[in-house]
Amino acid sequence: MDLKLTNKIILVTGASKGLGFACAKILTDEGANVILSSRTEENLISASENIATETGIQPEWIAADVSKLNDINSLKTSILEKYGTIDGIVINAGGPPPGATLEMTEEQWQSALDTNFLSVVRLSKAFTPIMQKKKFGRIVAVTSISAKLPLPNLVLSNASRLAVIGFLKTLANDVAKDNVLINMVLPGTTNTGRLKQVIKKWAENENKTIEQVIKERTSQIPVGRFGEPEEFGTFVTFLMSGRNTYITGQSIPVDGGYIKSSL
Ligand SMILES: NC(=O)c1ccc[n+]([C@@H]2O[C@H](COP(=O)([O-])OP(=O)(O)OC[C@H]3O[C@@H](n4cnc5c(N)ncnc54)[C@H](OP(=O)(O)O)[C@@H]3O)[C@@H](O)[C@H]2O)c1
Repeated sequence: MDLKLTNKIILVTGASKGLGFACAKILTDEGANVILSSRTEENLISASENIATETGIQPEWIAADVSKLNDINSLKTSILEKYGTIDGIVINAGGPPPGATLEMTEEQWQSALDTNFLSVVRLSKAFTPIMQKKKFGRIVAVTSISAKLPLPNLVLSNASRLAVIGFLKTLANDVAKDNVLINMVLPGTTNTGRLKQVIKKWAENENKTIEQVIKERTSQIPVGRFGEPEEFGTFVTFLMSGRNTYITGQSIPVDGGYIKSSL
């Protein structure tokens, strides 16, 4: 199937590793003109080279910290100077730290809101009007299954992901008539660098081995294993494509069946 992504200009934030990297790689492979972004230049150089090795196309990159309004403004300026327009954004960043619900500090709350919620508001404000004007735009925000099922010891994620859904669902309704389609994709447990750290922490907290933790967690997933970033990136790529013409405002898990509610 031609996904109608050829030459579409798509920004992927948090693109140097993990889920963002997988989205960027598959979008590039499907013909999109992808701009990688994350905080660290050396991560971006290596991500861009890895994508070139795997797809034969080397994406450009721009360093930006999406928790900072100034960085988002500079990102917008750089993209408009170089490309003159934009067709889509995959909004992604690192996840907030775990911790006891009532023990997260003011700084941790502010940082989680800046990184995982206000980044979505600010990127949407910066780029959606351009997409509305051209009557084409696709936005996917990477959130978490914690939006549907609060996870223990992860209140910063549980709370900030729901705020993203409240904002983007509202925006999706506002801009759908302009063919700007906006969805949230909720990863379940997926094999990335972040997951390795999270599992190590779970094992320490629960006084178990890493193998025990992996066995217990996978037993709760109907598919019987953790996800791979490419499985996540493939679905995001479809939602970002010109082939997605009627899905908007949805929060869709890619979780091997982990969320077991009917809706
Ligand atoms: N993997 C899972 O199992 C899982 C499950 C549920 C939810 N999630 C969520 O999915 C998202 C991605 O997870 P992941 O596992 O792919 O994480 P990861 O492997 O740690 O990758 C995070 C990416 O985001 C970039 N980044 C971090 N903070 C940033 C910021 N402030 N501004 C711009 N870029 C930033 C990092 O690059 P730099 O260091 O270069 O900035 C890196 O490229 C996170 O929000 C995570 O909580 C993941």
